[in-house]
Amino acid sequence: MLTHIPYGYERLFELITEQSSTHQIRTILEIGSGSGNFVGLLRKQGFDAEGIEGKVESYRDDLGQWLHRGDVVQLAEIFGDKFFDMIIAQGVFCHSAQFDYVFSSYLPPEMIIPAFIDPKLREELKIPIRLKIEKMLRSCFNQLNPNGLLVDVENYVPGDCVFFTKESAERIVYRVLRYEPKEAVLQKPY
Ligand SMILES: C[S@@+](CC[C@H](N)C(=O)[O-])C[C@H]1O[C@@H](n2cnc3c(N)ncnc32)[C@H](O)[C@@H]1O
Repeated sequence: MLTHIPYGYERLFELITEQSSTHQIRTILEIGSGSGNFVGLLRKQGFDAEGIEGKVESYRDDLGQWLHRGDVVQLAEIFGDKFFDMIIAQGVFCHSAQFDYVFSSYLPPEMIIPAFIDPKLREELKIPIRLKIEKMLRSCFNQLNPNGLLVDVENYVPGDCVFFTKESAERIVYRVLRYEPKEAVLQKPY
């Protein structure tokens, strides 16, 4: 019996339920899983769920073996030949790929504020941001089972954020089952 969906995860939970009615979903990987509360909920629901997170200091102790520390671009190194029926992301591709992982790795600290203020610099920065997002998409593709699904929900207002595009997903040869900047369901073809 479901008691509590972590804040912000309501839509993602709906999509997982919807997709589970038409696809056989047993193994789920949450990328950018934070402290792991949603992984815990999915495990309670009977899924073999794991999470990967790059930054959070404290993970839930009771989920230790199912929560991994690392960057989403390193899924092959971390999971090897464990593949997933579904990979899920909540607020990861845009917001965090952009601010935490791209700005911090491409810019010296004294450049971060100018990068937000200077429109030209911001435009230039979108190139490495897009490359990082596409690397993450590709890494997920490679760690999915054939017919596996990537379900992504983003939770902020589109504006200066960079989203992955339908075209970039298709270039990686995902089948795009649904695409809006804030919500996407992609499938790895068999
Ligand atoms: C906005 S937070 C959302 C956290 C959680 N999914 C939620 O909705 O509560 C995005 C999370 O994704 C993680 N993240 C973003 N890009 C990542 C990457 N490339 N590798 C690992 N973790 C990443 C961040 O560290 C952050 O914890």
